[in-house]
Amino acid sequence: MAKTILVTGAAGYIGSHTCVELINSGFNVIGLDNFDNSSMATIYKIEAITRTTMQFITSNCVDGKLPKDIDGIIHFAAHKSVGESVQNPTKYFSNNIGSLNAILDHAKVLKVPVVFSSSACVYGDQYRELLHEDLELNPINPYGLTKVFGESMLKAADAAYGIPTAALRYFNPIGSHESGLLGDTTITNLMPYILKVATKEAPFLEVFGNDYNTPDGTAIRDYIHVTDIAKAHIKAIQHLIDTGKSLPPINIGNGEGLSVLQIVEAFEVATMLEIPYEFRPRRSGDAPTLVASNKRYRSLLSQDTHKSVEAMCRSALNFKLKGI
Ligand code: WQD
Repeated sequence: MAKTILVTGAAGYIGSHTCVELINSGFNVIGLDNFDNSSMATIYKIEAITRTTMQFITSNCVDGKLPKDIDGIIHFAAHKSVGESVQNPTKYFSNNIGSLNAILDHAKVLKVPVVFSSSACVYGDQYRELLHEDLELNPINPYGLTKVFGESMLKAADAAYGIPTAALRYFNPIGSHESGLLGDTTITNLMPYILKVATKEAPFLEVFGNDYNTPDGTAIRDYIHVTDIAKAHIKAIQHLIDTGKSLPPINIGNGEGLSVLQIVEAFEVATMLEIPYEFRPRRSGDAPTLVASNKRYRSLLSQDTHKSVEAMCRSALNFKLKGI
């Protein structure tokens, strides 16, 4: 009998890719989203890609509309802009913590496992080459704080109610599903802005900071294909269902760092499109280097092959050019 998974934030960038991978792996999916920064069009695209109809609930997590006939929950729904969280922290505390609390309350009653969408932001600006999961966490913005507190909520829920949980700390997701129907539209992120320049919607890319202590002076991140991240969720929820045991926090990254200029170059080589850029002052809240130690990911959740940065760039452009 196929297991049914509730996916909150199902119309979001990582949520929608995860719905596709869940359905392709034989799960039933019930999606939930309040379309705060997404739309029903994404749900139709998931259905088109998987050739299925997907149960869907238009709601946030606290409205009491959470479905009961489920075997597990993957919880993406949250606000995720670092900059906005600095400007409006209470919006992030009430939404991100309140939603997770409602999900854990529900999981407690149904006795089902929860996979939680965490972030590399929990590490703050620790200047280590590879960030290990057992490092002391020191978030430098309210968004990161909600993720650190969220992970503590998971631990408390497991200890009190025996809910198996997993916190997946995403590094930098880029790329799109091979169909070109799903992608990242978060305009503050690097890749969506590169795509604007590639399609002449913007004259050049603003590179925030070229005075970091890195080889070319620009900030370094660990970019990983969104489909590889989605697939990690399938392994995580399956592990929790099969074992009834929680997983430790797990970094989801490729373990390799690329600077902003290296991503720009990789995009130009992969797509043969020129990306002019100009340097600007650093963006507040940015860390110089965020690269994952991904041993746990590789041993517990990883696929064999990971998509190359060129494949990530080409798939991102494919989504942009499809523009539907
Ligand atoms: C990457 C690098 C920018 C835009 C964000 C979220 C984080 C996580 C992943 C959810 C930085 C530089 C960017 C531009 C630039 N999301 N940049 N010009 O900030 O590493 O992480 O996405 O978990 O929470 O904060 O990603 O793509 O915004 O920036 O130079 O126009 O590109 O300064 O060094 P970030 P990003």
